[in-house]
Amino acid sequence: MTQTLLLTRPVPQAGREILEGAGVTLRLAVEDPESLPSRESLERGIQGADAVLSLLTESIDEELLRVAPGLRGVANMAVGLDNVDVAAATVLGIPVSNTPGILTETTADLAFALLLVVARRIPRADRYTRAGHFRAWGPELFVGLDLGPGADGRAKTLGIVGFGRIGQAVARRAVGFGMRVLAHDPGHRERVEKDPVARWAELDELLAGSDFVSLHVPLYAGTRHLIGPAELGRMQRTAILVNTSRGPVVDERALVEALRAGRIAGAGLDVYEDEPALAPGLVELENTVLLPHVGSASRSTRDGMARAAAENALAHLRGERAPSCVNPEVYESEAYRLRVTRR
Ligand code: GLV
Repeated sequence: MTQTLLLTRPVPQAGREILEGAGVTLRLAVEDPESLPSRESLERGIQGADAVLSLLTESIDEELLRVAPGLRGVANMAVGLDNVDVAAATVLGIPVSNTPGILTETTADLAFALLLVVARRIPRADRYTRAGHFRAWGPELFVGLDLGPGADGRAKTLGIVGFGRIGQAVARRAVGFGMRVLAHDPGHRERVEKDPVARWAELDELLAGSDFVSLHVPLYAGTRHLIGPAELGRMQRTAILVNTSRGPVVDERALVEALRAGRIAGAGLDVYEDEPALAPGLVELENTVLLPHVGSASRSTRDGMARAAAENALAHLRGERAPSCVNPEVYESEAYRLRVTRR
């Protein structure tokens, strides 16, 4: 009997090929790549499924996991796992996997791109040029901020909050711009201290001392609203905030207030607190660049993520250890053994 994998949404062909080649029956919760599956279609789809391949847009919570007593694993096509209740899955004996490493450089590129385009006001300058407003070079035309030492010769400081793979990749990029790098990551002080580029700073010191602040923490209870009114208030008035991690890490309403009041100079956002909705007032602000969660969106990276998720899903289906399982302790549990010996 072939095994059934629930795809919560369509994935790139590179991943589908692996699954189809292995003879897996693919069940799609939603056909249209631009639509989100309803709760009912997820519940219907997971019933009788042997594993799930989910995207970060679907909440794979305990209630949903309980609908599928034969589920052998959840393969999330993302590095972030805030959409999956990993603790509940562990209790239920369900391995959960993600796609770490693959999107590091691509996401770091996007964080740096946001720094550049906000600092140099590039989207607005582009709109201005296309609209036919460019009539003459002018010394005050789209004057922005330097990333490197400008004519003032002052090296800029980049504050990196969250010093995992992506935070470290952002730090490496900063070297090319002659930046000083401050980093804060409560769980990984030693990693920062050993890093050849970054210098450890407490969060308040980092916020106060940085020209640019880039966020790279995973979302969990401890990082929700890590950047709120008080933290924004500690930043410099000329500073730019970049968020390519998860929206709820920033109190978005407080950010709108801070940007509106000129308490910070600008923000580059790829993620939103209530994604895909934007906080009221955000779109009207000229000192922001807003992207639709495209941190990992290069062809090779998205294909790589799809392949990694497919390989994880196949391992889940076969009852083998998934290459990037985040709760490997389940493999020793009775709950897991019961699941894989069920049929
Ligand atoms: C993207 O946001 C990811 O977590 O992979």
